[in-house]
Amino acid sequence: MKYQINNAVVIGAGTMGAALAAHLVNAGVRVTLLDIVPRQLTEEEKARGLTLDDPQVRNRIVRQGLERAKKSRPASFFAPELADLVRIGNLEDDLDVIKEADWVLEAVIENLKIKQDLMARIDEVRPEHCIVSTNTSGIPVTSIAEGRSEGFRQHFLGTHFFNPPRYLKLLEIIPTADTLPEVVEFISHFGEYRLGKGIVPCKDTPNFIGNRMGFGSGAFALHYILENGYTVAEVDAITGPVIGRPKTATFRLMDLVGIDVWEHVGVNLAAAIPHDQHAQKYLQSEKANKLIHTLVERGWLGNKTGQGFYKQVRKNGKKEYWTLNLETLEYEPPGEKPRFDSVGEARGKETLKEKLEVFMNSDDRA
Ligand SMILES: NC(=O)c1ccc[n+]([C@@H]2O[C@H](COP(=O)([O-])OP(=O)(O)OC[C@H]3O[C@@H](n4cnc5c(N)ncnc54)[C@H](O)[C@@H]3O)[C@@H](O)[C@H]2O)c1
Repeated sequence: MKYQINNAVVIGAGTMGAALAAHLVNAGVRVTLLDIVPRQLTEEEKARGLTLDDPQVRNRIVRQGLERAKKSRPASFFAPELADLVRIGNLEDDLDVIKEADWVLEAVIENLKIKQDLMARIDEVRPEHCIVSTNTSGIPVTSIAEGRSEGFRQHFLGTHFFNPPRYLKLLEIIPTADTLPEVVEFISHFGEYRLGKGIVPCKDTPNFIGNRMGFGSGAFALHYILENGYTVAEVDAITGPVIGRPKTATFRLMDLVGIDVWEHVGVNLAAAIPHDQHAQKYLQSEKANKLIHTLVERGWLGNKTGQGFYKQVRKNGKKEYWTLNLETLEYEPPGEKPRFDSVGEARGKETLKEKLEVFMNSDDRA
């Protein structure tokens, strides 16, 4: 194979980008992580007499992203000291690092125009062999490379990692009609053998495979939960490991993903699949969309802002997780654990099939 990845540039130091930079360093790749330059000073920066031209300020967003990745649980880095190997910079001063890059992995906000503009800038500096990929959750990959040079398009594809990328095995690989087969083959091989992922090739359809199912069922679930007055604690007690899903269940997952990301993906998906009437019914759910939008407006974006459907509260030196009341939008301290006969019975069963059979044959609220 003619490709190699020794130098990578990850763009976007949010939930995914910083964690992806960590995982690339884990795999022995030299990584530079870039993000935007802040437009305003913080109170602390003002008090210190810093200006928007100060390099410390210009790299604040990327530095904070890397700091969050260092503290993430479960840990993004194999060992804490590996974080020192991630070089940081910003998209104004340091774009030239791409001239040395073998792979540019884009993980910026889920917005087509922003991604397209960024790709135009990358196209101007990337070396001929450099592979460029997007971590978009579901924007058609072909549209992100629209207007780019032939060489760019031949080396461009979707690499959709899941959160948290060190731990989740799935890596969806989404070539476009222009992506060279050897680029697809190389990145699939690298993803599997260097990054430890399980590769699923996808067509370039809205939300690909995992998120098309995940957001379809997620939109249905949120609509049903609000129509039937379930609480956050009830839903997470029912929709976690007892039905074969991770402990993050429903609302912990939305907090992990980011409520703003959830909103972007839902809005993009609704616009991309007008023909899918079944999905539209739930993607257009007024109550559900209003709830999500209100949380975004309030900046309650989930784990990245410290509160979403859950809020971590320190009481008498101890951590407590308060849950959002979906009617009043106030946080409530943990009360009695929700109990359902069917959940109790299902927990005692060995196989997932037996657990699901319990639910199918029960008529309690779970
Ligand atoms: N959060 C998830 O669970 C998840 C999982 C898989 C894929 N994704 C996708 O990965 C990408 C990043 O998601 P995230 O959750 O890390 O988002 P995030 O909100 O945590 O981070 C987004 C980053 O984009 C940067 N940004 C904002 N405006 C920008 C601009 N104009 N130009 C360049 N950068 C800008 C922000 O500073 C921020 O660091 C999105 O495409 C998202 O759909 C997210």
